[in-house]
This record gives sequence, structure tokens and C-alpha cells, in this order.
Amino acid sequence: MKIAVLPGDGIGPEIVAEAVNVLNALGESFTLEEAPVGGAGYEAKGHPLPDSTLDLAKQADAILFGAVGDWKYDSLERALRPEQAILGLRKHLSLFANFRPAILYKELASASSLKPEVVSGLDILIVRELNGDIYFGQPRGVRAAPDGPFAGAKEGFDTMRYSEPEVQRIAHVAFQAAQKRNRKVTSVDKSNVLETSQLWRDTMIEVAKQYPDVELSHMYVDNAAMQLVKAPKAFDVVVTGNMFGDILSDQAAMLTGSIGMLPSASLDKSNKGLYEPSHGSAPDIAGKGIANPLATILSAAMMLRYSLGKAEQADRVENAVKAVLAQGLRTADIWSEGTTKVGTQQMGAAVVAAL
Ligand code: IPM
Ligand code: MN
Repeated sequence: MKIAVLPGDGIGPEIVAEAVNVLNALGESFTLEEAPVGGAGYEAKGHPLPDSTLDLAKQADAILFGAVGDWKYDSLERALRPEQAILGLRKHLSLFANFRPAILYKELASASSLKPEVVSGLDILIVRELNGDIYFGQPRGVRAAPDGPFAGAKEGFDTMRYSEPEVQRIAHVAFQAAQKRNRKVTSVDKSNVLETSQLWRDTMIEVAKQYPDVELSHMYVDNAAMQLVKAPKAFDVVVTGNMFGDILSDQAAMLTGSIGMLPSASLDKSNKGLYEPSHGSAPDIAGKGIANPLATILSAAMMLRYSLGKAEQADRVENAVKAVLAQGLRTADIWSEGTTKVGTQQMGAAVVAAL
């Protein structure tokens, strides 16, 4: 089995190195091949997603991705910015189903900014559609406004769109995920305003008929944002589009107080996937050896489970992470009084030792 390793920018290389050490310590015969992506791709080959990197990602059984982005690329034209690498990988590989779990580890209950009784035991799963919506909808651009009170002025425009089959396939993913959990799906939309959302809601209701054992409810996105901080434990699986999912998944992650702990998976229809931490490239702490590698290590665990068919190894990795937390080891982002502060490499080594 071949794993494409794409460390990217900022803290990406440091955290991915630790996840690679964990994978290598499992005693499996994986082939790991590394390639530049994001700003690193631009520096090495003049493009954030070089052809050679995309080819490697296509050939591989799974992709371990670090993070991309740095302020120093903000002035590049959009097509050359690091973010295009992750958007391109998602689109070219048809990775339409994004799993973003938000789990509060009991050892980290005090890391949340919410009251312990609101978040203790939190375990929700955001299923975000990743190939459509306003992220990819055409037409888009900047032009002279054709009409309205500002006709002739410069205007920017994007197009929100979803086709019925696109909504159906993510609906199936969400219902099937819920069947393995608490059998509740909350579909988040803005159907009181948007046509795209009305189609989304109608399609969810249709697909739900095939899953009578799962309870479907609907929520407008503004209310969902409110309920997520008011009573987050009322959710089980949240399914939503690309844009709303981007926003709500950051919010859900922060409920746990430790975005440095949260993995994610982006899957195609045959469970080939890209695995990355839910956090970004954190250029402000890059190279300092203080970043939390656990989200990336847990992403590698998701990869073992979903794409490589190694559920037992996934359990081993997840249990090793719980063990180091129980030992009191903490990187700076999750440190609290009475625990032991460690750096990126020490944390990675502790996980390897706990395997
Ligand atoms: C994410 C990120 C990306 C997104 C960016 C980097 C393009 O915020 O994975 O959530 O908006 O999807
Ligand atoms: Mn995001």
C-alpha cells in the first residue's frame, strides 16, 4: 500500500514527520512517498499543486496531508496561492465527503471555553460536502455590475450551486455514518432564503426514506451556529454544504478547546482518502518545535481505518494518543497547570513509545 505524504507549509512538515514516525512504528509494509504541495509546491515547481504531486496523489491508496498557506503568498494571483492545492486535490480526486469529528477528550475538558457540563463527553461528527457549492460554482469573477443601483461599478460574484446527485451522495454518507453512531442526522441549510438550500433540504428528505432507522432533522445555519454553542451535545451527525461546513466545523472544533487534537478525512466514493489535521499551517509557530502533532497522528489513524483497512492499527494509534494524554503530556496549545509541557518531537516520540 502506497501513502502519498504531502507535508506542505508552516507547521505541516513538523507535524507530518511525527505522524510518519508513528506509521513506520506499526510494523506494516507501507510505502511512503513525499511530495511538495502548497507554498512548498510553488517554491519547488512553480505551482501549489505540481503535476508530479497530483500524479503521486492519484496513484496512492491514501494521502497524508499537513497544512498549506503562509501570509507571504497572499499577494500571488489566486491560482498560485497555497489554498489552491487542497481545493485542487479535493476536486481532482473527487474527495466529496469530509468527516470532521469534534471530540472532547476527558483529559482536556478544561481546554474548552465553554462550561464543562455543556461540553463534557462531546462527540459530534460534521459531514461537510467538499466538491460543490459556492467554492466551485461557475460563473464567478470580477466584472462591471450589469444592472442595479451600482451598475457599471466593479463587482465580485460567485455562484452557489448543488445538483441533486451531489446532495444525494453526501446524504447517503451522512446517514450511513449516523447508523454507526447515535442515528441522528441534522441537515443544515438556509432554505428560508436560498434555492440551493431548498433543493438540498428536499433531497435530504427523499434520501432519508431509505434510512428509516435514522432520525433526520433540519436547521437553518444561523440557528445551527447558535445551538452548537448552546447545546452541542444535542447533535450527533451534522451534514451540510461546503461553505456552511467550513464555518461550522471550525466552530465545532473550538468547542473542544483544542483544534490541535482534531483529525479529518476527505473521502471519495470508494474510500480512497486524504487525511489532514483540522487546523491550518500556523506560520506564526512554524519551525519552533511546539506545534501539536496529535491531530495529524489521529488523521493517520483515520487513514488506517477508512482507506487502508487496518482498523486494529487505527485503534492502537488512538489508544496510544489517549495514553500520552493520561500520562499528562501536553503541547503548549493544550497545556494546563499540573501537566507536563512537551514539544512536537517529544509528543510524537511518546505516542510511538505508547504503541
Ligand atoms: C479547510 C480550509 C480550506 C477550506 C481552505 C484552506 C481552502 O479552511 O479545510 O477548512 O476553506 O476548505
Ligand atoms: Mn476551514
